[in-house]
Amino acid sequence: MATLINEGKAKQLFTTDDPNVIQVHYMNQATALNGKRKEHIDDKGEVNNQIDSLIFEYLNHLGIATHFIKQLSDSDQLVKKMKMVPLEVVVRNYASGSFQRKFDTEYLLKFEEPVQEFYYKSDRLDDPFINDSQIHALKIATPEQLSTMREQVFKINQALIKLFAASGITLVDFKVEFGFDADGNLILGDEISPDSCRLVDAQTHESLDKDVFRKHTGNVMDGYRTVLSRLEATAK
Ligand code: TMP
Repeated sequence: MATLINEGKAKQLFTTDDPNVIQVHYMNQATALNGKRKEHIDDKGEVNNQIDSLIFEYLNHLGIATHFIKQLSDSDQLVKKMKMVPLEVVVRNYASGSFQRKFDTEYLLKFEEPVQEFYYKSDRLDDPFINDSQIHALKIATPEQLSTMREQVFKINQALIKLFAASGITLVDFKVEFGFDADGNLILGDEISPDSCRLVDAQTHESLDKDVFRKHTGNVMDGYRTVLSRLEATAK
């Protein structure tokens, strides 16, 4: 019988018959302000599971190692069990969010090279920015592991820019997480969806991601459904 291993802000993790495989259930829930604001949102779990499955299948196809095994149902998928590295790895192609606030730049200022940042995953500390030297001091990852994650995340960025551009969507920025699989390989885990990316319409710059929920600017599901239908149309 499947047992609940962990419940995060938008997903539940369950055991399966295989100790190296877990079932991820996407919930109809959105949070902001590090979980302090929580709302039920109809269909969000299904739409995010479908977007994430499509993206991870695409990355697996390109030879990028990920935890994703297969989509199981509308709101569930099977993934490899991982020991996660407690880092959020952010890549930015255009200025938005915390970068725009921190450096007071214009919105969607285009960077010549993608910007990469690490944040230490800790709800208690509100996921603070962390640099390489601090990561080494806290023994979170070795220099080689940081290089691997940087190398992988820039490859993932190029692949995602291409995938979204074909659907008329600009990838502004995104966050991913890495972990070790049962064989000790450092591979991509967690999720890639409009919960963890900033996506704007390439023509109108309309927001198609969780910023709509964060900023209360409309119905968040309109953007998520647009992302899914455009990705599905392009994948055909
Ligand atoms: P930021 O501009 O707020 O630092 O966010 C950068 C990107 O990372 C953006 O696409 C949203 C994503 N992100 C998450 O997925 N989870 C988080 O906890 C944070 C802070 C950002």
